[in-house]
Amino acid sequence: MSQTLVIIGSGPGIGVSVASLFAVRKFDTIALLSRNTTRLSNDRETVLKAAQKAGRTVDVKTFAVDITSFEYIRTLAKVEQLGNISCVVFNPARVAPGSLFELNEQQLLQDFQTTNIGCYETARWALPLLRQVTTAKPTFIVTSSIFAVDPIPQFFGLFMVKAGQRNLVQSIQKVHGADVHIALVNVNGLVSVEDPHLNPDVIAERFWGLYEQEKGDWAGEINVPEGSGATFKESAFDF
Ligand SMILES: NC(=O)c1ccc[n+]([C@@H]2O[C@H](COP(=O)([O-])OP(=O)(O)OC[C@H]3O[C@@H](n4cnc5c(N)ncnc54)[C@H](OP(=O)(O)O)[C@@H]3O)[C@@H](O)[C@H]2O)c1
Repeated sequence: MSQTLVIIGSGPGIGVSVASLFAVRKFDTIALLSRNTTRLSNDRETVLKAAQKAGRTVDVKTFAVDITSFEYIRTLAKVEQLGNISCVVFNPARVAPGSLFELNEQQLLQDFQTTNIGCYETARWALPLLRQVTTAKPTFIVTSSIFAVDPIPQFFGLFMVKAGQRNLVQSIQKVHGADVHIALVNVNGLVSVEDPHLNPDVIAERFWGLYEQEKGDWAGEINVPEGSGATFKESAFDF
């Protein structure tokens, strides 16, 4: 049966690499959501090319929307019409430095809306759909970082909201984790195409590994690079 993957927060980094790999390996319909229509169109082309190269025909639908707007809920209703949604990836964030006491309150609120309220609304929409899935592995993945637990002050805004998001995801796991694979992917350093461990394609492979896990072995979180967990030292990366 055809399966649909939804990427909330498509972009040239992790978002499009995950969409491309999942299109190559399994998914027939991919929904990409973000704000910039030109970038969405480029992302769509990237996914289509990756699938075509692997001899697969996939349908890629794009939805230009700001997830902090009222329009987001209406957009999710349109995404739902694609049917057979079995995997949802929540990936958007504003990845930018913001020194302590310099970032203004408005920006902090905006980050909270994107990362926390956006994740909350997405999960509230996705979980009932994923709980109905019987022909695939129902999966909800959120891109996070171990810095949500042990912050880097130069990025305090990003990691403050990621800490709340992590807590939210853990609550969702406690309620729905027996029926839906709900997981955090902790990306523990700066994503770069040149980095052997933190390039988007390598990270996408880790998403796939998580997706492939059988019920009973479902991990609640993974660290990228492998082994960069709670004892990870920020000095290992050049922030
Ligand atoms: N990049 C890193 O070094 C790094 C490190 C650790 C963790 N992470 C995490 O990994 C995830 C992906 O990061 P990435 O840099 O690789 O990004 P990406 O996957 O290339 O793209 C994410 C996309 O989310 C979209 N987005 C942001 N705010 C949005 C909003 N309000 N509504 C709709 N779409 C929105 C942006 O597109 P538009 O602007 O077009 O909307 C952006 O291109 C993030 O959660 C990030 O915190 C990244």
